Amino acid sequence: MLVASIMEEYEKSRWQELTRVVQDTGVDAFELNFSCPHGMTERKMGSEMGEHPDLTEEVTSWVTEVAKIPVWAKMTPNITNIKEPALAAVRGGAVGISAINTILSVIGVDLNTLRPMPTVEGHTVPGGYSSQAVKPIALRMVSQLALGLPKDVSVSGIGGIETSHDAIEFFLLGASTVQLCTGVMLHGVKMIDELQDGLAKFLTDKGFDSVQEIVGKSLTYFSTHMDLVQKMKAAKRSKAGEASRDNEWAQKDITEKTAELTSN
Ligand SMILES: Cc1cc2nc3c(=O)[nH]c(=O)nc-3n(C[C@H](O)[C@H](O)[C@H](O)COP(=O)(O)O)c2cc1C
Repeated sequence: MLVASIMEEYEKSRWQELTRVVQDTGVDAFELNFSCPHGMTERKMGSEMGEHPDLTEEVTSWVTEVAKIPVWAKMTPNITNIKEPALAAVRGGAVGISAINTILSVIGVDLNTLRPMPTVEGHTVPGGYSSQAVKPIALRMVSQLALGLPKDVSVSGIGGIETSHDAIEFFLLGASTVQLCTGVMLHGVKMIDELQDGLAKFLTDKGFDSVQEIVGKSLTYFSTHMDLVQKMKAAKRSKAGEASRDNEWAQKDITEKTAELTSN
């Protein structure tokens, strides 16, 4: 299966021409790049579209008007609530959402030259941060999408995947496919062997027959802060046999109290 990633300026005729031309090559699906932070954002390309749900919806609908194959939309993480542009893409006809692209960052400042890094001829722009450091953010956003999108919309998980362990985490949090970028750049395509073997071993060891069976399996454990506090109180009450928490605490020294606060 071949998914074509496409990106264009904010112009209906250009998007529709690109869609037709790429579709004619025989690809199986489209991924609309509403997320690249490097691609001419000043011309409303890439993440500049993904940061504006109204544009995301409109451009997706231009593509789905002429596409005869499934259309996914790829989201930028540089936004407060990733569900908003994702839902806008779904309203425009997308049947899948990919997340995440890179996180806008400045990697440091050279203390000799005082120039923010990385530099090109001494100057810079914030650039896209990827790889292992972004995985926790990607996992959070993928789970938010899996919980918040209509059930028939698929989620493709991206961000810091290097091993089967990483990929399985994305599946458990609702992704039905995963994608890799920086990992392959760093380690080469041989890494796919471990991804396949590790995933197959996990499924066998845990008694699952297919990847589909584990998609979203861990979502049920998300709750609210208030609920966690209630659960913790209830567990403590039952452990202490309904003893008063204040009395219980008064009898403990500071070492015991801090140990209790820092353990799960
Ligand atoms: C050097 C580089 C080039 C990238 N080019 C694209 C691109 O052309 N289109 C796109 O949708 N995402 C692009 N990305 C984003 C990745 O596809 C991916 O969403 C992001 O890097 C997080 O995944 P990773 O940690 O596996 O790299 C690029 C990322 C990097 C680091």
